[in-house]
Amino acid sequence: MPAFKTLDDLTDIAGKRVLVRVDLNVPVTDGKVSDTTRIERVAPTIKELSDKGAKVILLAHFGRPKGEPVADQSLSLIAPAVEEVLDQRVAFASDCIGAPAADAIAKMENGDILLLENTRFHKGEEKNDAGFTAELAKNGDIYVNDAFSAAHRAHASTEGLAHHLPAYAGRTMQAELEALEKGLGQPQRPVVAIVGGAKVSTKIDLLSNLVTKVDALVIGGGMANTFIAAQGIDVGKSLCEHDLADTARAIMETAKTAGCAIVLPVDGVVAREFKANAANETVDINAIPADAMMLDVGPKSVELINGWIEKAATLVWNGPLGAFEIAPFDKATVSAAEHAAAQTRAGKLVSVAGGGDTVSALNHAEVADDFSYVSTAGGAFLEWMEGKELPGVAVLTKG
Ligand code: 3PG
Ligand code: MG
Repeated sequence: MPAFKTLDDLTDIAGKRVLVRVDLNVPVTDGKVSDTTRIERVAPTIKELSDKGAKVILLAHFGRPKGEPVADQSLSLIAPAVEEVLDQRVAFASDCIGAPAADAIAKMENGDILLLENTRFHKGEEKNDAGFTAELAKNGDIYVNDAFSAAHRAHASTEGLAHHLPAYAGRTMQAELEALEKGLGQPQRPVVAIVGGAKVSTKIDLLSNLVTKVDALVIGGGMANTFIAAQGIDVGKSLCEHDLADTARAIMETAKTAGCAIVLPVDGVVAREFKANAANETVDINAIPADAMMLDVGPKSVELINGWIEKAATLVWNGPLGAFEIAPFDKATVSAAEHAAAQTRAGKLVSVAGGGDTVSALNHAEVADDFSYVSTAGGAFLEWMEGKELPGVAVLTKG
């Protein structure tokens, strides 16, 4: 893994102003934070810096406000949850630059924590504008990026600042990169990847890259239908991107050349409507009724997938195998997740999973804690798996 500086390299920081980029883009329901996972993940970095006497100044985005203040995307809504998780007072400044930020920072004592307003309230953030970045940089002596899940963005607070201030990776950034490296960088073989989710179109780059790196690629979810149909099998009314048949065949060709096994469902659970507890039946993959759609992979497929999980030394997982959000079409996902969790607990498997839906699916299966590592990143996790350079990471390694 390319080297970057971590908090271990930060000594003597008492009284220093440390700008810490965190990801506080958390789900909010009825004005309250409904999942604090991302806040919990950045807490160790914040606490460590605060304990070392730094003035900890948090930078973050929330939502996609397009460069203007939007009341319901104010980080003041998130501040109470941050305080609660940290169990420490967190002051708030109504702007991330200018007088509100400068005044709040002037009042800080060593070890204090201050949250600045949404960086995306300024157009310069997403444009990675030099002037805006310089304004942000004025508020700090040191920059720490702990927002792996936003590292696929080349924004002022995720990339630009590292050109202005001495830059370090926070503990969560470090943990994410180490876990991903373990999963796909120099992994224990065989490596098996499970990729699911609705569409092939959103994951073409991912699939094309994975087949050259892993020993087996298990394809599930709606995207499996595109691969099945590309082999001339009728998938009825199943979600399917028929226009991607050539792409699917090309990916299978690449896999063959690279010696990667492609594992497709051999049976499916089909229904006539997409809703919880819809009447359903299990059919062979060659026997999907013309008026039905596949909503989950079937029990024979699960057996096959679990067999691959047993063969694997490393598992990388992104995307559910079926419509796990509606019962009973969560069965395959839950069963494979439980199997991977058991293998991990038994010390036989390194399991790394990531992506919003995947994390929900693993939580639904109640096994997230049993996986070796679960990334809170969505887009950044996928782009890392695709082999793309993440600007927020690259700038820390190249300086
Ligand atoms: C996320 O929630 O995936 C990250 O915080 C990045 O947010 P974005 O997709 O709006 O850039
Ligand atoms: Mg996103």
